[in-house]
Amino acid sequence: MEKFVVHGPCRLEGEVTISGAKNAAVAILPATLLVKGKCHLENVPDISDIRAYCKILESLGSKIEYISNNELIIDNTDVNSAIASYELTSKFRASYYLIGALIGRFDKVQIGLPGGCKLGARPIDQHIKAFKKLGAKVIVRNGNVYASKTEPLKGSNIFFDVVSVGSTMNAILAATLSEGVTTIENVAKEPHIVDLANFLNSMGAKIKGAGTDTIKITGVKELRQKSSYSIIPDQIETGTFMVAAAATKGDVLIKNCIPKHMEPITAKLIEAGATVEEFESSIRVTMDKRPTSISIKTMPYPGFPTDMQPQTSLLLTIGDSTGTIVETIWESRFQYTDELAKMGADISAHGSTAIFKGVEKLYAAPVRAHDLRAGAAMIIAGLIAEGDTEVYDIHHILRGYENIVGKFANLGAKIDYVKTEDDEE
Ligand code: EPZ
Repeated sequence: MEKFVVHGPCRLEGEVTISGAKNAAVAILPATLLVKGKCHLENVPDISDIRAYCKILESLGSKIEYISNNELIIDNTDVNSAIASYELTSKFRASYYLIGALIGRFDKVQIGLPGGCKLGARPIDQHIKAFKKLGAKVIVRNGNVYASKTEPLKGSNIFFDVVSVGSTMNAILAATLSEGVTTIENVAKEPHIVDLANFLNSMGAKIKGAGTDTIKITGVKELRQKSSYSIIPDQIETGTFMVAAAATKGDVLIKNCIPKHMEPITAKLIEAGATVEEFESSIRVTMDKRPTSISIKTMPYPGFPTDMQPQTSLLLTIGDSTGTIVETIWESRFQYTDELAKMGADISAHGSTAIFKGVEKLYAAPVRAHDLRAGAAMIIAGLIAEGDTEVYDIHHILRGYENIVGKFANLGAKIDYVKTEDDEE
């Protein structure tokens, strides 16, 4: 069994460099399938979701040259299969981008249903709606999504019922090589959507409006190969270190980030009493007192990101009075509150609302990383708590945070990665 042992309490101090954005990279990797040629990607995060994606691409016939842990050249000239097994796709959510990426190039696509963090119901009806609007036939059966077309996809008007990151990405991928003009309305505006559009446009796609409510795509016949593209810094990794700095009353300079992407988090940290200084591509967070209790409501970008909800909850957990979190995106994103309760937190979570009565201290306990961001929250809790906090199910954390132990260690934290021998058999 693998676990982290976090030795607390600890004040974080120093500098940390942010890696490439997971949620941009997991869309850009499959997007390379739209090119019958090579794409050179830089600032690719070295995380297990990316390693899993590379395996899927290789199973389809992609040739990947690993220049370094963060730099890849993907050659999709010889991709000859549009079938990805459930065994490979069920490891993470973003495997569904293969449908949008492959349906432009192949007439029949078979992709195992995606997996990913258990955050509540994760339907794909809006993805399917977009593919169908473009002229594809889609059936979900026996754990697979089957998409097919008998003629080239045709531009259409798509209006999403919900604001969905994945559906927006998939509609962009499918429409890029279609015939005519596609207008997609009520789309997600997250930085990773803009990054995917920038990547595709840099290869000759015609995508306008990414980052606004309406995206217009004029289909092109083909894309040209890409000499090099650098993925944007990870907004959520940046936010995780910002919150960790504040929660440990620390002083941390976070480098290689985009301060504009951090505005909803910066605003909440300032409300909680932290000092946040913004520079061109870095942010310094300092805090010298117990957090003022704050209230948060998660919203699609540019609102407060649901993926920062568990980490930020630590500021409310040790806040000076009572704070509230309302989660509007994922119905099961409060499972971590039971873990924090084991450490002395006073939280009551019902439905989409959690009320945090701030406590002065947390105490170490064995806790579980229920999902990726909940896992990051457990590490921050361990940094605040008295004693040695054991965090289990850390495979969730390793899916999305590059070198998390090393990065925290550089800031003065003591976190041990422990693997017990019986696992190695
Ligand atoms: C993306 O998931 C992210 N994952 C998630 O990050 C993130 O929590 C989420 O967006 C919201 O920001 C990736 O980018 C790989 P959605 P996604 O489609 O695309 C409903 C992390 O920790 N919906 O924006 O799956 C859905 O139920 C992960 O890095 C439908 O109803 O999320 C949810 O309530 C976890 N029908 C809302 O929309 C659909 O067809 C937003 O989901 C699709 C979604």
